[in-house]
Amino acid sequence: MPPPRIVRTVKALRATVHKWRSAGESVALVPTMGALHDGHLSLVTLGRRKATRTVVSIFVNPTQFGPADDLSRYPRDEAGDAKKLGAAGVDVIWAPNADEMYCEGFATTVTPMGAALPLEGEFRPGHFAGVATVCTKLFSQVGPDIAIFGEKDYQQLCVIRQVVRDLNIPIKIVAAPTSRDRDGLARSSRNAYLTPVERAAAPALHRALKGVAAIAATSGLINKAIEVATHDLLAASFAKIDYLTIRDAQTLGAYEPNAGRSGRVLAAAWLGSTRLIDNIAV
Ligand code: PAF
Repeated sequence: MPPPRIVRTVKALRATVHKWRSAGESVALVPTMGALHDGHLSLVTLGRRKATRTVVSIFVNPTQFGPADDLSRYPRDEAGDAKKLGAAGVDVIWAPNADEMYCEGFATTVTPMGAALPLEGEFRPGHFAGVATVCTKLFSQVGPDIAIFGEKDYQQLCVIRQVVRDLNIPIKIVAAPTSRDRDGLARSSRNAYLTPVERAAAPALHRALKGVAAIAATSGLINKAIEVATHDLLAASFAKIDYLTIRDAQTLGAYEPNAGRSGRVLAAAWLGSTRLIDNIAV
């Protein structure tokens, strides 16, 4: 496979996509912040199955990091990413620098409410405004037919679906299942921060979610299930649990077990100085 072209300006990106469109081709966008792992590559595989051309954006978006998140510590490896994306058959890497993405005087923000308010919205104020703004820009810059988002960041997926619906953005959002290591740990760029001891403890998060989902689906004793899972996580040396909860799978509001709607178990918890998030369906 030839290496994908790395495009740095909106003008060049639009010219390329225009050529594809004139030839009747369809376009999939896979938004990323780089430091790509097999989880990202599974999104690319899905994109390639669903469209004739695939664009992967790599942009470490400063506006979605809070003051407590270390933006400068976020892993970056553009050369390594380009190699992986070449092998995966990607057509274009859209990698603007910060000035191309946020022009001088930039003063417009997409502020999602609804699904953006609970959970991550409470623990990372402003995060989803940063995500929604950059994704709206990526959609407008690339103009894809579809955009692929992983269920790993389940709340982000719900928020993006909401933004696309509310702003009438003519794009289909496609959800890709969470890619996991053999022991169940959800693949994430942040796993690179774990020490070997923390990495060995990390699969307890997925086990806890499965325990809650199983009890909720059978006995309905949700509070008891969450109490047991919280105890198990702390025993597995998780230092702090930001949330461990069952929510309505679409709105992320309260889950009503007998309302005939799907539920989702979601958690965010700290192992040492690394915050892990994960979720599964009930
Ligand atoms: O999931 C991510 O990597 C980021 O939040 C995204 C969607 C690329 C926006 O910066």
